[in-house]
Amino acid sequence: MAGREDASDSSSFSAPRECSTRHLALTLRVAFDTRVIQARAALTVEAQRDGLSALTLDTRDLKIHKATTNGLEAKFSLGDKHSFKGTPLTITLPFKLLRGEQAVVEVSYETSPEASALQWLTAEQTAGKEHPYLFSQCQAIHCRSMVPCQDTPSVKSTYCARVSVPKELVALMSANRDGEMIDAQDGSRKIYCFRQTVPMPSYLIALVVGSLESRVIGPRSRVWSEKEMVDAAAYEFEETETMLKTAEKLMGPYVWGQYDLLVLPPSFPYGGMENPCLTFITPTLLAGDKSLSNVIAHEISHSWTGNLVTNKTWEHFWLNEGHTVYLERMIGRSMFDEKFRQFVAIGGWKDLLEAVETFGATNPLTNLVPVLSDTDPDDAFSSVPYEKGFALLYHLEELLGGPDVFMGFLKAYIQIFAYSSVTTEDWKKCLYSYFNNKAEILNKVDWKAWFHSPGIPPFKPNYDTSMADDCIALCKRWSTATDAELSCFGEADLKQMSSQQKIEFLALLLLEPPLCLKNVKRMQEVYKFNGIKNAEIRFRWLRLCLRAQWEEAIPLALQMVTVQGRMKFTRPLYRDLYNFEKARQQTIDTFVKNKPSMHPITAALVAKDLHLV
Ligand code: BES
Ligand code: ZN
Repeated sequence: MAGREDASDSSSFSAPRECSTRHLALTLRVAFDTRVIQARAALTVEAQRDGLSALTLDTRDLKIHKATTNGLEAKFSLGDKHSFKGTPLTITLPFKLLRGEQAVVEVSYETSPEASALQWLTAEQTAGKEHPYLFSQCQAIHCRSMVPCQDTPSVKSTYCARVSVPKELVALMSANRDGEMIDAQDGSRKIYCFRQTVPMPSYLIALVVGSLESRVIGPRSRVWSEKEMVDAAAYEFEETETMLKTAEKLMGPYVWGQYDLLVLPPSFPYGGMENPCLTFITPTLLAGDKSLSNVIAHEISHSWTGNLVTNKTWEHFWLNEGHTVYLERMIGRSMFDEKFRQFVAIGGWKDLLEAVETFGATNPLTNLVPVLSDTDPDDAFSSVPYEKGFALLYHLEELLGGPDVFMGFLKAYIQIFAYSSVTTEDWKKCLYSYFNNKAEILNKVDWKAWFHSPGIPPFKPNYDTSMADDCIALCKRWSTATDAELSCFGEADLKQMSSQQKIEFLALLLLEPPLCLKNVKRMQEVYKFNGIKNAEIRFRWLRLCLRAQWEEAIPLALQMVTVQGRMKFTRPLYRDLYNFEKARQQTIDTFVKNKPSMHPITAALVAKDLHLV
């Protein structure tokens, strides 16, 4: 790619060209009193060249007790700590491996209470208030704080695990469940066993321990959560099997066995995370009307794009997310119609505009394929890989003959690269070879601009606005309303609108110059948005109020960033609060006070957003 042929992963110390992990066997003992996991990780590694005599693994804040190779104690050393990569762990093999030969390297270690992958919740922080809770979030490069491993998406391995936890609690992992028993070493504990037989990258390793219950929601699906939410979740995500079947029709068989959902506590930093066999989701999706279930369609789609075909490094993250958004919207198209897909795509384009504005139109992190050699993937995260990626795929769909033709390509792409990791160059070669009779069309695409230039894409798609027209009209009325016209608004304006259309209406207003204070006050009078629970609506409404400098919104926004920690909501609200002079000090105070109980990733990013580090 434009002089960057090297597909090595600058965010990992490990060298996949020297050695590659084939299997990982984990033995974990979860200790809530000290907030550590005491662990053994046995990696079956395979030499990728002759004469291999050492290997380097990624770690972060791990205490290493011992290393063995094929059962014999081995020398190991830890290097210097890097700001976001952590610390390389080099293990010396007491023998030399030939290319293709395997060895079992076992590391005994414990995690730090500050492990960036883990959030330890006290009983008071849970819905049930009775039992503590632990969950992991490894994407992009946090797995190394839980397991010493080749923490790069270019390496895939199977895994199995035995997890010891207090016997009142349940452990789940991103794998199929493989039995449970009383812990023979400690009768107050239970061991849960897991087996993942499909090779997958380290960032998909996931663990949760809590007082969990489940409900069956489909032939291969359960929803898990604390008992307080489990019935609401079973209703909200009722369409899961329909979505899985739709996805299989589009992409081929689902190979992972079970597809379960886990509804996490509100501090979970993302909307959803595609952990194999067990998608993790935020409780902010529990809107009561299934209106936010596109996130489930998205995570289901990752079972193909991301989990089967994986970005080789985080610079090619758009291959995961752009394709997944495309498939998510194809599932929406199947379940509703083409007009609905067009409507959702309009919303996505606006998210892209906002991301470009937030980063700045010349910021290289707004490239579809950014250079990340000195950048923490968490700092690079934005809607750009999602929405610029989608816009490119949609543009190609239009050029090449429409959704059915383009799905033919995507299905072939998945078949060709299943179980492997790919770069943008691999993807592009595959595209040219699939459409070898349409090379003149493909050659008209300005690839360099799409991949390697910052800002908005070189081509703006033309989406059908019929489902957005009411939103556009209402937005226009509010942004131009004179004092006299304010009395013309009424409850009825929203009567015919779906939740998604209300979201769109508010998103459109957020692109306009801030509303007058009078206007937002009147909007509250007629639409009563202060009382709305739907997180996507509430989030946009509060931003609108803060931008209009409405002081009454300050406590509401501070509450929203405190009671939930989904970064999509928490970070922009914190930034808006910070930019509101009158709220700034209170905002910083709130953050400093809550930081100890926040998710480590969210806390780190909000601290940067508030210029505290
Ligand atoms: N894999 C991502 C979440 C993620 C990305 C975690 C990068 C850590 C680093 C997940 O599939 C995702 O994209 N979630 C979105 C869903 C939305 C696009 C429908 C989210 O969290 O909002
Ligand atoms: Zn995703």
